[in-house]
Amino acid sequence: MNPQIIQLPKILDHRGNLSFIESNYHIPFKIERTFWIFDVPGDESRGGHAYKNTEEFIVALSGSFDVVINDGVNETIFHMNRSYYGLYVPKMMWREMRNFSTNSLALVLTSTPYCADDYIRDFNLYKQQVK
Ligand code: TYD
Repeated sequence: MNPQIIQLPKILDHRGNLSFIESNYHIPFKIERTFWIFDVPGDESRGGHAYKNTEEFIVALSGSFDVVINDGVNETIFHMNRSYYGLYVPKMMWREMRNFSTNSLALVLTSTPYCADDYIRDFNLYKQQVK
């Protein structure tokens, strides 16, 4: 599956709306880890790296930010600004998050537990390996 925006269920209710995500149904992997990124200064970026084995699903729970995906040849920018849309990122994609709005909150669901060895942090090495 390519990187793509997935629309999540949205239950509209006058008491407040609700969305949800189930493993292997709304997203194509079993969730093994959840982390979130918050209090990002406006001019900072996060996550300039690729994962050898990890798939991710990224949701802007609050505010907005851009996820820049580079497959070694082409770059695509996904603007995330709704809590009921998420971006599916397959393994072996270079990805960076930038342009965080004030008080934005990025939720990241992943298919693996944290493993430092799963990271490729050098873009040139990534381009070589993805060939
Ligand atoms: P990292 O993924 O390297 O962030 P970025 O690519 O944006 O710089 O994570 C930063 C630090 O947090 C790193 O030292 C590892 C730690 N970390 C965990 O311990 N568990 C996790 O699930 C994540 C995502 C990071």
